Amino acid sequence: MRILVTGGLGFIGSHLIRRLLREPQVAVENVDVLTYAGNLANVQDLESDPRYTWHRVSVTDAEALDKILSAHAFDAVMHLAAESHVDRSIASGLPFVETNVLGTQTLLEVSRRHGVRRVVHVSTDEVYGTLGAEGLFVEDSPIQPNSPYSASKAGSDLLALAAYQTYGQDVVVTRCSNNYGPYQFPEKLIPLWITNGLEQKPWPIYGDGLNVRDWIYVEDHVEGLWLALNRGRAGHVYNFGSRNERTNRQVAEDLLKILQLPPETVVQVPDRLGHDRRYAIDPSKAEQELGFQAQVGWDEGLERTVNWYQEHRDWWEAVKSGAYLDYYRRQYQHLEAHRK
Ligand code: NAD
Ligand code: TYD
Repeated sequence: MRILVTGGLGFIGSHLIRRLLREPQVAVENVDVLTYAGNLANVQDLESDPRYTWHRVSVTDAEALDKILSAHAFDAVMHLAAESHVDRSIASGLPFVETNVLGTQTLLEVSRRHGVRRVVHVSTDEVYGTLGAEGLFVEDSPIQPNSPYSASKAGSDLLALAAYQTYGQDVVVTRCSNNYGPYQFPEKLIPLWITNGLEQKPWPIYGDGLNVRDWIYVEDHVEGLWLALNRGRAGHVYNFGSRNERTNRQVAEDLLKILQLPPETVVQVPDRLGHDRRYAIDPSKAEQELGFQAQVGWDEGLERTVNWYQEHRDWWEAVKSGAYLDYYRRQYQHLEAHRK
């Protein structure tokens, strides 16, 4: 089974590739253009596996994608490449529209031309917008995104579903809640706070800190993606989450305890513009139809995550200093020379 994964040098994509390669019959080709969020170190342990290949290609580049899909027949495309950080999208939405909207449409069209059997489009619960104190997102909740990030993801999600309606293209869409775990870029909440804690730096908390997110351990999400690929129904949407709602203040309390830091570590800063108040997922459809079941509880997942950042200081110090960008630019030149 040959699978093309996009965004495989990022946080979730690298965990997905590791999960896929546990299946002996699977070969993976990773299309990732290596933006600031991508990191070759995330897949270093896989590089010697002959079933793994990386292409430094953008999902907006139809010609390059055509070449990759002409070289082999692919059973599936699992599409994760995206601009993914809400705060960056508030600064400028343009890269989000380019990669998330144009890139997804390009990938759908190229996959269709080459007869790829199935496309799994990895969307997000943020396309549903925000909840009040009550209720959960279900698959037919209205699509009401509020940030440039979530609006661009909603565009890509609807383009994927439109490909099914219009052409009968076999597409499955997944919408997952907030992920956490090893290899997450430290501009997102949990790795930012853990790494700041390890550097004796403060933890910025936006506004009143009572916004709620529904946290899932990344390995549970990628298991869900594998199930969606194998058992999902074409044209269907599946929500993934682990029924684990926390306010940002609760996340801070739990992390302060593990890291043995004082409450003064948390510093209130001005709220994010258009900050969604609450996300909460009902994963019943995925549980019933796919056999999905989140396995990693919050206490265990947080402990594992903190341990990983404690043990991988080199990884995040390089990422935070920006040094890795220079390193990988050099590394990339070396790889190119090697290929010639
Ligand atoms: P990430 O930012 O860590 O990784 C994104 C990857 O995509 C990077 O390796 C980057 O180099 C690559 N990329 C960006 N633009 C590209 C382009 N034009 N062409 C090819 N590659 C490109 O993101 P993540 O947190 O791993 O999220 C992966 C996917 O899962 C995204 O689609 C995101 O919307 C979705 N998602 C994320 C979460 C979460 O909590 N992180 C939750 C639900 C859904
Ligand atoms: P984030 O990790 O950016 O994920 P998302 O915005 O996609 O949910 O943020 C998670 C929550 O944490 C969100 O409510 C914003 C908040 N937050 C802070 O309070 N301080 C921070 O420094 C960051 C990055 C986020």
